This record gives sequence, C-alpha cells and structure tokens, in this order.
Amino acid sequence: MNTPYVHGYSPCETQRLQDQAQTLEELLHAGTLYPANSQVLEAGCGVGAQTIALARRSPRARFVSIDVSAQSLAEARRRSDEAGLDNVSFQQADIFALPFAPCSFDHIFVCFVLEHLSRPEAALRRLKPLLKPGGTFTVIEGDHGSSLFHPDSDEAHAAIGCLVELQRRSGGNALIGRQLYPLLRDAGFDAPQVEPRMVYVDTSRPLWVDGFTRKTFMAMVAAVREPAIAAGLTDGVRFDAGVHALDRTAHAGGVFCYTFFKAMAWAGRVGTDPSVTGS
Ligand SMILES: C[S@@+](CC[C@H](N)C(=O)[O-])C[C@H]1O[C@@H](n2cnc3c(N)ncnc32)[C@H](O)[C@@H]1O
Repeated sequence: MNTPYVHGYSPCETQRLQDQAQTLEELLHAGTLYPANSQVLEAGCGVGAQTIALARRSPRARFVSIDVSAQSLAEARRRSDEAGLDNVSFQQADIFALPFAPCSFDHIFVCFVLEHLSRPEAALRRLKPLLKPGGTFTVIEGDHGSSLFHPDSDEAHAAIGCLVELQRRSGGNALIGRQLYPLLRDAGFDAPQVEPRMVYVDTSRPLWVDGFTRKTFMAMVAAVREPAIAAGLTDGVRFDAGVHALDRTAHAGGVFCYTFFKAMAWAGRVGTDPSVTGS
C-alpha cells in the first residue's frame, strides 16, 4: 500500500464499512450486473462490504477480490463464507504490483479506493491492461465537498475539513469524486460516463438517518477526532461542536445530502466522447 490508510482497520471501521455498504447497496450497485462466466476483478475489496453485494447480484460471474490488508481479507473471507458465496476468491495483492497477466479480466470494479491513493491515475494505468478489449471498468468514489446540510454550521464544515486535510496529508484525496472523468480519460479509458448518485436524507427517512447520516458519515468524521487534534487541526471543544452540529441534521427538521460519483469506462472500445483518443 503506498499511503497510510486514513480510516484505519479497527473493528469500528469494519462495522462502518458494512453499515455503509448495506445502506447504500441499491444506490451504488444499481446498473452493475456482470454476465454468467465473466471474470471480474474487485480491487481494494477491504472487509468485503461491496463484495457481498457484487457477488449476490451477479451470482454466475466469477470474482477475484484483492486487497493489501491481510487483516481485512480475513474478515472479507469470513463474511463471504457466512453469506454462502461460492463465486468469489480472495487474494492479498497491491494494485501497483498485481500478479495477473494482461487481459485476465472481463470487468474491473473499484469502490472507495482511489481516494486513498497518492497516485490514482497510476493505479488506473496499472489496472487497465488487465482488462480484455471491450472490458468495462467501474469506479465509485465519494466527495466530501458535496456535503450539504441543514441546519448549516461552520463547526460541522470545519470538522469535515479535518478529515479532508488528514486524508490529504496521508497522500489521499477526499474530494476525488468530482475528478473521475478526467482521471479515467487521462488514464486512457474509452468513453467514461460519470453519474452523480445523491443521498438525500430528511427525518421522514429514519433508515437513512441511521444508516447513512449517523453510522456512515458522522461515524467517519467522529473517528478522526484524536488524529485531528494531534495534528493541530482543531481542539476537542471545536471538533465536538462540529460533530454535535452534524448530529442536529439527524434530528427533527434536519437534512443531510451527499453525492457519490459512479463512473463506467471501457478498455479498447471506440469511444463516443470526441475528446477521448483511447490508448
Ligand atoms: C475505504 S476501503 C474500501 C473497501 C471496499 N472497497 C468498500 O467499499 O467497502 C479502501 C481499501 O483499499 C485498500 N487499499 C488501499 N491501497 C491499496 C493498494 N495499493 N492495493 C490494494 N488495496 C489497497 C485498503 O486496504 C482498504 O481495504
């Protein structure tokens, strides 16, 4: 792994990734179905939170799910076995040193990984040759700059800003969602198509308040309290005020909005985008 991973590998983060994946399954995975017998690489599978959805939704495709973290892979294997999946194999590997021959896969899927890499375009360039001509590449990333909420609060924006800054200092980019189109185009993919997928939560949607606002977004921000204070980005009082302000968006009258970006591009297909020259 070429940069420290800002969210870490704690049991709380494992639970957060699972909550996130369950809450967002339809929003993120709608439109992603892989045909029978196709070979799919999932790069950066983590604890398998997306793997379960992917493999269940395309039960006759074959998935190879890789991650650099042996600890996360052990959890992913456990959850895959628990879910009774028989179409996934897990392997420890680094995206920058993958043990696969060119043209090994029909499709590649990457979710919430590029945001943690200091060289996301280089990662895309490593992955692209693994696709067969005409194969598809799907990538999903968030963008913390897309957070909108009511009541609005400078303290809440500042707490989110701590996470963005810590991720930047560890080489990542928490604002990468907006860059998917240029990243894919510059890495030589054909015809990238990017769809914003917005989460809109008000208190008439209690499952989303709990699953997204509280357990996914607030949990992610709250988890950087100590590192943010240690880095001198904030103090405990100001940070806690920010988290408290985010919590107000989860109570009566509160609203929280966040946009994920889902992109699909092709390897070796003649593109429809005139600005794309292919590779
Ligand atoms: C936020 S987690 C996302 C996991 C999963 N895709 C999901 O959506 O739940 C990012 C994962 O990328 C992995 N990762 C980071 N850099 C990597 C690299 N160079 N090669 C393989 N995996 C990497 C981390 O170990 C971590 O498990």
